[in-house]
Amino acid sequence: MKHIAVIPGDGIGQEVIAAGMDVLDAVSEISSFQFDPEEVPIGSDRYLRTGELLTDEDIALLKSKDAIYFGAIGDPRVAPGVLEQGILLRMRAVFDQYINLRPVTSWFPLVPLKREVPFDIHFLRENTEDFYMGAGGEFGPSHGDPAHIHIRRETYDLDVDLKASASNGDDFAFEIGFLSTRGIERFADYACRYAKARGDSKVTLVDKANVCTHVYGLQREIFKRKTAEYGLDLEFMFVDAMAMAMIVRPETFGTVAVPNLFGDILTDLGAQLQGGLGMGGSGNINPEGVSMFEPIHGSAPDIAGRGIANPIAAVLAAQMLLENQGFPEEGKLLHDAVRNALDTRQTTPDLGGSLSTSEVGRGIADYVRSTRR
Ligand code: NAD
Ligand code: IPM
Ligand code: MN
Repeated sequence: MKHIAVIPGDGIGQEVIAAGMDVLDAVSEISSFQFDPEEVPIGSDRYLRTGELLTDEDIALLKSKDAIYFGAIGDPRVAPGVLEQGILLRMRAVFDQYINLRPVTSWFPLVPLKREVPFDIHFLRENTEDFYMGAGGEFGPSHGDPAHIHIRRETYDLDVDLKASASNGDDFAFEIGFLSTRGIERFADYACRYAKARGDSKVTLVDKANVCTHVYGLQREIFKRKTAEYGLDLEFMFVDAMAMAMIVRPETFGTVAVPNLFGDILTDLGAQLQGGLGMGGSGNINPEGVSMFEPIHGSAPDIAGRGIANPIAAVLAAQMLLENQGFPEEGKLLHDAVRNALDTRQTTPDLGGSLSTSEVGRGIADYVRSTRR
C-alpha cells in the first residue's frame, strides 16, 4: 500500500489533479498498485484564510508519506513569490528534492517543428541551489548600509554582510546564485547514473560559464571529473545556444543537466516542443527521501474554473510517480494511454480537441481499465 499525499493547490491544479486521481484509481483497479491518498489543503485559499503556507504539521504529515502528488500554486490575489517560495520552493528544499526530472518527448503530431525527427530529451534540473535560494536583498541610502542576508536550510547556513554604495547615491537590489561542491557533486552523480541507465554515452551540461564564471566554472570542473569517472562524454552548451539548439536539433540531446534557473526556463520551452504546457510532467526527486510529482505548469488563472485545462501533464506526472514507486509497467501503461488519447483526438482545446479536463481524464482512465487481463 502506497501512502500518497495529494496537494491539488490552486487554480487548474485542482482540475488536473482530479483528473489524474481518476487515472490513478483506474490503475489501482487493474494492477498491483494499491494506494491510500490523503488530500492536504495547502494553497492560496488556506493561506488567505489562516496565513499558513507550509506548517510544521504539514511537513510532518508529508514526511510520513511515500510520495507527494502536487498540482500547482499561484493566485492573483497574493503577491508574486509568497506562495511560490513559501510552499513549492520550501517543499523542494525541506525534502531536499535535489533533482527535477523533466522529460521532453516528441508527441507527434503535436511537435511544432518543421522536421519530424523524434526526440526524447531528459532534463535533469538541479532543484535546490543556484538563484533559487532567496539569497538577496536591497541596500543603499533608503535601506541603511550594510545589507545583511542570512539563509538557513537543512543543507546550508549562509551569512553574508555586504558593504557597498554607489557614488551617485543609487539604491540596489541583488540576488545571489550559490552552488556548493556537495550540491554539484550529487547532481553530477545523479546525471551520470541517469545517463548510464538510459544508455546515453554523453551528458550535456547547460550553463552560462562565459558570464557567471564563479558558479558555473566550479560546476564544469566537477562535471568533468565525474563524467570521466563514469566513462561518459561531457558536452558543454551555453544556455542561449541551447535554447536555439532545442528547436534546430532536439534529437541530438539525451541526458541534459541544467542549473535551477535556466532549467526552469528551458523546460517551459521543452513543454511547448511537446505540444504545450499541458504536456509537461515532472518529478522533484530525492533518491533517499520523499519525492513530489507535478505538472510543470502553474495555476493558469487565465483558464482556471472553466474545465478546459489539459490534464495530460498531470497524468505524465502520475506516470513518473508510479515509476518512482516501483511500478514501471503501470507507468508505461499511462504513457500508452496518453498516446491513445492523442491518436483518437480525445483532447482539450489547447491540443485542438473539444473535451473537458475531466472527460480527457475519464478517457485515459477508461483506456487503462480496458487493458484489464
Ligand atoms: P502557467 O503555467 O500557469 O500558465 C501559462 C500559460 O499556459 C497560460 O496561458 C495557461 O492558460 C497555459 N496553460 C498552463 N497549463 C495549462 C494546461 N494544463 N492546459 C492548458 N493550458 C495551460 O504560468 P503563469 O501564468 O506564468 O503563472 C500562473 C501562476 O502559477 C503564477 O502564480 C506562477 O507563479 C504559478 N506557477 C506555479 C507553478 C507550480 O506550482 N509548479 C509553476 C509555474 C507557475
Ligand atoms: C516550476 C515553477 C516554479 C519554479 C515557480 C512557481 C517557483 O515555475 O516548477 O517550473 O520556478 O521552479
Ligand atoms: Mn517554471
